[in-house]
Amino acid sequence: MQKSEKEKSEELINLLNKDKIWGAEAVLLKDEWLGFQVLKKIRLPKSYRIKQIDDELRNSRTISESKLIMASRDAGVKTPFIFDIDLGTSTITMEFIEGQLVKDVLNSKDSIEDKLHYVKLMGEQVGKLHNSDIIHGDLTTSNILINNQELIFIDFGLGKFSQAVEDKAVDILLIKKCFTSTHTEFERKYFTTFQKGYMSTMSEAKSIFRRAIKVEARARHLKENQIISDYALSE
Ligand SMILES: Nc1ncnc2c1ncn2[C@@H]1O[C@H](COP(=O)(O)OP(=O)(O)O)[C@@H](O)[C@H]1O
Ligand SMILES: [Mg+2]
Repeated sequence: MQKSEKEKSEELINLLNKDKIWGAEAVLLKDEWLGFQVLKKIRLPKSYRIKQIDDELRNSRTISESKLIMASRDAGVKTPFIFDIDLGTSTITMEFIEGQLVKDVLNSKDSIEDKLHYVKLMGEQVGKLHNSDIIHGDLTTSNILINNQELIFIDFGLGKFSQAVEDKAVDILLIKKCFTSTHTEFERKYFTTFQKGYMSTMSEAKSIFRRAIKVEARARHLKENQIISDYALSE
């Protein structure tokens, strides 16, 4: 049965009374669902957009994010289990992952060996995503969780399916930029280690790196040979 607008907003208000995290484009609530600890990711209406366009946009992002989360799991990359998708409120109900963000682990007092271990794993997992033509779209250390020493990828809201070398290169540049801006201390070591992991699972890694160099040089108004040494292209 179709929910009325009034029912939809009442449901939302109920949900919003719980503890929440405000994300960049959604609100996230920890909740219980059939006895499971879940996280509800709700894309709230934006009043500055025309209602019909806003509804379509929130729902298409909800559907696309859910598809990418499930496809990643098929590609061998861990993501939260999806319990429910409600298009009435643009809500994804997913498994709540206990654990830390990779960002917090890399900024912690853990040993550099441990940190590099996770960075290499990140590279391996992103390589698997790209081998399956899954572009994450917001690849940062805030969108990867560590649970039981395994990485769980979240936040595919800006992701897409694409075979294009350029799209994969942009994902690589996002993570490079994240290392430079958030993990300055070891940025170089991290990016080298990430690439090692990526090359071990992604068959066309080098052509992706070559494209990343082009895109980065263009964006930063540099010559390609000024940044080529950041990339694992030599052997
Ligand atoms: N399944 C989950 N389990 C536990 N925490 C999560 C989960 N999904 C998201 N989070 C937490 O909520 C934050 C924001 O979620 P995210 O999907 O990245 O939303 P946004 O698109 O707004 O950035 C994450 O950085 C993480 O701390
Ligand atoms: Mg996020």
